[in-house]
Amino acid sequence: MSPFIKDASVQAVLAAAGIVDVISGYTSLRKRGATYTGLCPFHQEKTPSFTVSAEKGLYYCFGCGEGGDVVRFLERAENLSFVEAIEQLGERFGVPVEFEAGAGPDAARKDRESRLLLLLDKAATFYQRFLWETESGRAALDYLEKRGLGEEVCRAFRVGFSPDEWRGLKRRATKEGFTDRELEEAGLLVRQTGKTYDRFRGRLMFPLVDHRGRVLGFGGRTLKDETPKYLNSPEGPLYQKGRLLYGLYQARRAVAEADEVIVVEGYTDVLGLVQVGVGNVVASMGTALTDAQIGLMLRFTGNVTFMFDADRAGTDAMLRSGELARGHSLRPMVALLPGGRDPADLAVSGGPEAVTKVTAGKVSLLGFELRQALARGDTSTADGRVRAFEDVRRIMGRVSSLKEREEEIPLVADRLRLSPDSVALLLRGGRAPSRSDAVRGGRETAMLTRRLLGSETAVERDFLVAAACNPERAVDILGALTPEHFADLDNREVFAGLREALALMTGPGDHEAAFAKLRSRAHDDSSVGPLFVRLVMEADQGRYSVAVLDELCLRLQEQYLKREIGALRATLDDGEDRVEEQKRLVRLERLLQSVRANLKDLDPEEGRT
Ligand code: UTP
Ligand code: MN
Repeated sequence: MSPFIKDASVQAVLAAAGIVDVISGYTSLRKRGATYTGLCPFHQEKTPSFTVSAEKGLYYCFGCGEGGDVVRFLERAENLSFVEAIEQLGERFGVPVEFEAGAGPDAARKDRESRLLLLLDKAATFYQRFLWETESGRAALDYLEKRGLGEEVCRAFRVGFSPDEWRGLKRRATKEGFTDRELEEAGLLVRQTGKTYDRFRGRLMFPLVDHRGRVLGFGGRTLKDETPKYLNSPEGPLYQKGRLLYGLYQARRAVAEADEVIVVEGYTDVLGLVQVGVGNVVASMGTALTDAQIGLMLRFTGNVTFMFDADRAGTDAMLRSGELARGHSLRPMVALLPGGRDPADLAVSGGPEAVTKVTAGKVSLLGFELRQALARGDTSTADGRVRAFEDVRRIMGRVSSLKEREEEIPLVADRLRLSPDSVALLLRGGRAPSRSDAVRGGRETAMLTRRLLGSETAVERDFLVAAACNPERAVDILGALTPEHFADLDNREVFAGLREALALMTGPGDHEAAFAKLRSRAHDDSSVGPLFVRLVMEADQGRYSVAVLDELCLRLQEQYLKREIGALRATLDDGEDRVEEQKRLVRLERLLQSVRANLKDLDPEEGRT
């Protein structure tokens, strides 16, 4: 299955991995008969259309069509490669993963990487114990107490303290067999003119954990007035600042549940909010978000609320982050903090109520930008209002959603003392077509095309599902069809696969081999794999009766014949004498008539052509 992991290991991991266990970490599942259902982690929905079959080891979403086995789930949910997914499952379910010999450099790199991860994890534990279990830790504990951060939240985020010595960590790591080189690569050791010393000394340590729970680096806060206030791990093979969101690992359950993520600036902001029960919070770590960070959040929710410090730096970072978020078609919100407060202060001094008040008063980022622009300008003079309006138009121009822009018209009208109609008119009049308009136009055309094609494809898919539900009848029907009966290329492939699988049946009721064959295709690349999964899952639930299969078969033929006739007519249009084509056209039209007659018989309402 994989060029690197031994197939026996893959099979052992698949046998041991509990798909329900794994998926429960992403969405809550309820048992319904033989399957589990829940809200789909891959698209936003309010009613569950996501199903998991423990027995088959498969999942499928009837809403978005995503489906596969536990490996594919991890590949999708965590953006892992096949090899990484197998490794992660192996670790979790206690199955050793063996690599093929000759996987050379890659295996060596993996080995080195896991050594560094182990070192970083051990360092986090070392700092934690130094905080809680040594006399020297006292100073840091006092500091935490003064800031109102309790033990529970500190332990949840593995907060620690680094010894105020040159080589405290190094001594310990060396004893455990780690080399200076490894310590350097992990960003824990600094080398200067031949000498080495611990990077983090006497600092409160915040492990920087990725969304899989792996420690990749540290942020260390001074307890004194040193600069920098926070010393962070240097970027290296493992840690890249812009690819990690502080707190996401701890927050993801809460983010999925709330269907919203609150983005703050700092480590302590995350801890402060979590401590008062606001769990769906992550930190951008003092700068604007990156595309990669937004991509991470998008796996869990599409609703982003910024709660950045109310100072200039915070506002700037929020505006830049918001702009990027819009690029991902998000509609960011802003929760405004009372002046001079950061989320940590607010939570610690005001408690949950103070935080709720701030989040309840959130406004759209667009509204926030407009308020700022309008407050900046002098709206008491006509000149000032004209200038302010130019600002408004510029800001509105960055938002492609007409609805979102229209919502803010009353605000602008009020501040500029114009009627809402005039504002709307002015906004429309002066807007030069922007790049985002062109993009939207393209997207809309694409959507229309998809909608038109959609109904044809849908009949084909339903037909295939109905065929899988009724294998005995389907064997004959599929035998009489050709790939050309399907307009959609994926459907063609599934058709061929289904026909091949059903050919394995030796008689009525003998489904085992056929369905094993279908299941084995769950792993097919691209969009075909999930379709096979869907066949298996729906067949299991007996979704369609034989009568439906017959009707869908007629509809499939109808659309196929229409397509063929259309194409044939087009070639005949050139005025030349083509006897063969003429004959074929007549034959196809007769066939279409009889198919339509049959359809009419089925459904008394079916009067249209
Ligand atoms: P802040 O200066 O707002 O710090 O920076 P803070 O989180 O409120 O920390 P306290 O409350 O003073 O202890 C916000 C974030 O910016 C990053 C850190 O991630 C910090 O949490 N930062 C800040 C640095 O990386 N280095 C710095 O020197 C300062
Ligand atoms: Mn702060």
